[in-house]
Amino acid sequence: MSTVNIIDFIYLISAVLFMLGIKNLSSPATAKFGNKLSMTGMAVAIIATLANPDMFGYTMIIIAIAIGAAIGGYAAVKVEMTSMPEMVALFNGCGGAASALVAMAEFQGHTGGFASFTLVTLLLSIIIGALTFTGSIIAFTKLQGIISTRPITYVGQQIVNAAILISTLFLAWTVFQNPENALAFYTIILLSLALGVLAVIPIGGADMPVIVSLLNSYSGVAVSMTGFALNNNALIIVGSLVGASGLFLTKIMCDAMNRSLANVLFGAFGKVDDSVVDDGEGPTGSMKGFDVDDVATVLESAESLIIVPGYGMAAAQAQHVTRELGDYLAEEGVEVRYAIHSVAGRMPGHMNVLLAEADVSYDQLFAMEDINDDFSTTDVVLVIGANDVVNPAAKTNPNSPIYGMPILEVDKAQTVIVLKRSMNVGFAGIENELFFKDNTMMLFGDAKASIQNLMSAVKE
Ligand code: TAP
Repeated sequence: MSTVNIIDFIYLISAVLFMLGIKNLSSPATAKFGNKLSMTGMAVAIIATLANPDMFGYTMIIIAIAIGAAIGGYAAVKVEMTSMPEMVALFNGCGGAASALVAMAEFQGHTGGFASFTLVTLLLSIIIGALTFTGSIIAFTKLQGIISTRPITYVGQQIVNAAILISTLFLAWTVFQNPENALAFYTIILLSLALGVLAVIPIGGADMPVIVSLLNSYSGVAVSMTGFALNNNALIIVGSLVGASGLFLTKIMCDAMNRSLANVLFGAFGKVDDSVVDDGEGPTGSMKGFDVDDVATVLESAESLIIVPGYGMAAAQAQHVTRELGDYLAEEGVEVRYAIHSVAGRMPGHMNVLLAEADVSYDQLFAMEDINDDFSTTDVVLVIGANDVVNPAAKTNPNSPIYGMPILEVDKAQTVIVLKRSMNVGFAGIENELFFKDNTMMLFGDAKASIQNLMSAVKE
């Protein structure tokens, strides 16, 4: 067996480890193991690459690995769970930039003519990688609040974007015909960078999860294209896995936020429909604030309880006290379950991760579609720092920006207890009529402190 064959075989092992890793990530019970499998797959792929006899420049490679590992390791340890989407956006950007840079180096360092297929994949890698880089930077700055999360729009925006895309593809065709055309080559890079910015600025904050996972998919496609150009099987397989899984996640996010994939791909999302006139009517009913003892009494008399966590639980780091309260009530004979909305919090799987960290039993966790029918027969729902994902306006108000988004239908329960600090709006920036309903009790305060107080009250 030649060295190349051995390296390809090792790449195959790492690809299998990645696939098993992704498979295990699909359940909270096996997710940590899946992560370890994927880490091993990456280590195996790096070792195989370094063992390649054609490899040179080890000093530079080791310096680069040390810098990358130090930054990545520091960021992974330091980053707050609530800032994970920003980190993912940055990682996507780095992936896109790395693919584009490798493809550019290959293009410029290449001697002799290009095979047509190699040239096409190099150009695609540069275009997709560059736009993924700038698009991800914009997504990062929006999520971080550095620039406004509101959609930035102007007249003819889609036409401008389409014109830039067509010009980029036309120039790519020109370079394909004549790879010596340096002006066209550098213009492609500039236009691709501009396209990433222009394609993401019209997207509003509430749609950022979709765009981050779409950019994740793009970064995978760019890696895969680089793999084809370099004839590197590991890059092809890993890039395809990231591209496909990112696309699936995008689809899941789209469904959860009521966006079609076509709508995401062709823009105009994150924009409020101007044809719909706001009827100016706010929520009807009156908001009712309660104290801890009143709320504790309701909890104690419940036979069934569904806990609905949201971003506020993450912000308050209330997952551990939530589990303690849930366990205590379960011991007292209450049927306790947790309902998870797939876009609750600020990243895919956010609530699952936090509840798993707090050791909530997996068989108590229910996805929206599995538990929505049960709210009408449930005594009490405890909403902990969730807002948009329980906003009935998504079903009842065609003028609402979130109209059509599937929600947890908590208002159907006999009593709804909402823990939050104020009447402030959630991520989508809209009022929530749930807080004004007759069967809703508001308990104001930081979620962690409120749950600790409730715990003391129910134990008395
Ligand atoms: P949100 O609608 O963002 O509402 C969170 C609520 O938590 C706020 O109304 C806030 O009210 C409350 N809160 C904040 N800190 C708190 C604390 N320390 N203690 C108690 N309450 C606190 O959350 P959600 O219902 O989970 O919905 C998620 C939203 O984020 C959706 O619009 C979704 O589209 C968007 N989004 C999701 C993702 C993913 S992938 N999950 C990523 C980006 C954006 P007070 O200020 O009054 O306390």
